[in-house]
Amino acid sequence: MTEISFVKQRITAARSLTVLSGAGISAESGVPTFRGPGGLWKNHRAEELATPEAFQRDPILVWSWYQWRRKLLSTKAPNPAHTALVSLESAVEHFTLITQNVDGLHQSAGSRTVITLHGDIWKVRCTGCDRVFEETSLNLPALPRCPVCERLLRPHIVWFGEEIDAKKLSLAIDACHSCEVMLVIGTSAIVQPAASFASLAKEAGALIVEINPNPALHDCADVSLTGTAAEIVPQLL
Ligand code: OAD
Repeated sequence: MTEISFVKQRITAARSLTVLSGAGISAESGVPTFRGPGGLWKNHRAEELATPEAFQRDPILVWSWYQWRRKLLSTKAPNPAHTALVSLESAVEHFTLITQNVDGLHQSAGSRTVITLHGDIWKVRCTGCDRVFEETSLNLPALPRCPVCERLLRPHIVWFGEEIDAKKLSLAIDACHSCEVMLVIGTSAIVQPAASFASLAKEAGALIVEINPNPALHDCADVSLTGTAAEIVPQLL
């Protein structure tokens, strides 16, 4: 039996499946990853763009970087890996998709429930009243303001040094503890807490399947499907 048929069989038999996705799942949509060749953190310094201190120091710079990314993303579409996960969501009784991605591609593919661990680039949050708004305009002012209290808006993203929303984190951890199979797709598994999710699921007895052209989970993965997300995930249906 090939590794793919083995995983397929385990998915078919499973009542609960949890997926953790990272930037690699969107790579074949043309969205740059963060690390590795051509990664965003090769040409940009995270501490100048993705920390609360950076935003306090130079909000125009931070906003212009996010506006650049929003414009780039507006030209991109989900790929067959995103679409295959939509089908898995309806095929498996208890399905949870946890993503570290803020690009919105799982949602535009049609995934109904997505735990957006690191936030959503298509949402903004007020630095004054904390309200969150959906905001898809590509022509925001250099410093967008809250329509309610007029304080500065910021991207609704979890920056380095910030806490993940407690409710999302608890849902994600529950899904790691309760799944029979976990797919870990396109993440370098460096950024915590997501980097520990596969170990949590493994300790709770799940089969861990990694899909990545450059596997990162090492000993934690029970099966490592070495290849790209768009090539492999549709084969698991
Ligand atoms: P990384 O850029 O760190 O890692 C991307 C992973 O995707 C690597 O392991 C690649 O080998 C793999 N990869 C590349 N192309 C692929 C393909 N076609 N199919 C499958 N895998 C592929 O991205 P993340 O692990 O998601 O945080 O990064 C985690 C967090 O670090 C991000 O959410 C972001 C960043 O700083 C925030 O924005 C808050």
